[in-house]
Amino acid sequence: MHKPIKRHLLLQDLSRDHHHGLLLSWKIRTGLKKGIDPTCIMKYVKWFWKNHLADHFEIEEKIVFPLLGNDHELIKKALSEHRKIKRLIERDGDLDKRLNFIESLLEKHIRFEERVLFNKIQLVATEVELKQIKAAHSEDKFIDNLEDPFWV
Ligand SMILES: [Fe+2]
Ligand SMILES: [Fe+2]
Repeated sequence: MHKPIKRHLLLQDLSRDHHHGLLLSWKIRTGLKKGIDPTCIMKYVKWFWKNHLADHFEIEEKIVFPLLGNDHELIKKALSEHRKIKRLIERDGDLDKRLNFIESLLEKHIRFEERVLFNKIQLVATEVELKQIKAAHSEDKFIDNLEDPFWV
């Protein structure tokens, strides 16, 4: 049995974002299952992107990923997933289909970062580099948009 690697303290802000990201996937899934108007679900997804996910991606792309280098296979995979998720949120087209893709891709992406990529990062990064990641992340607590909590 592999002993799970404990998340480094200085990476915990990003891991907390991941928790909220997984919740977003769950909310989309629940909304679709309940037959909620996909326009309402997408409105929430776009709000989440603008207020949380875009910043999270930016910190990863500017500070975390360069620690392994953009030519590293794991980083190429992560960057391509970021691009796909962003495109699915921003572009027009079949809402149901896009929401289904976003839901599954976001969850897969987060599990990949948590189980593989971040473990690798915390093995190679110096304490100074990890501190830069911590410093780049705002201290703000997650504030949800409860205007239309369709998942309840
Ligand atoms: Fe990511
Ligand atoms: Fe992430």
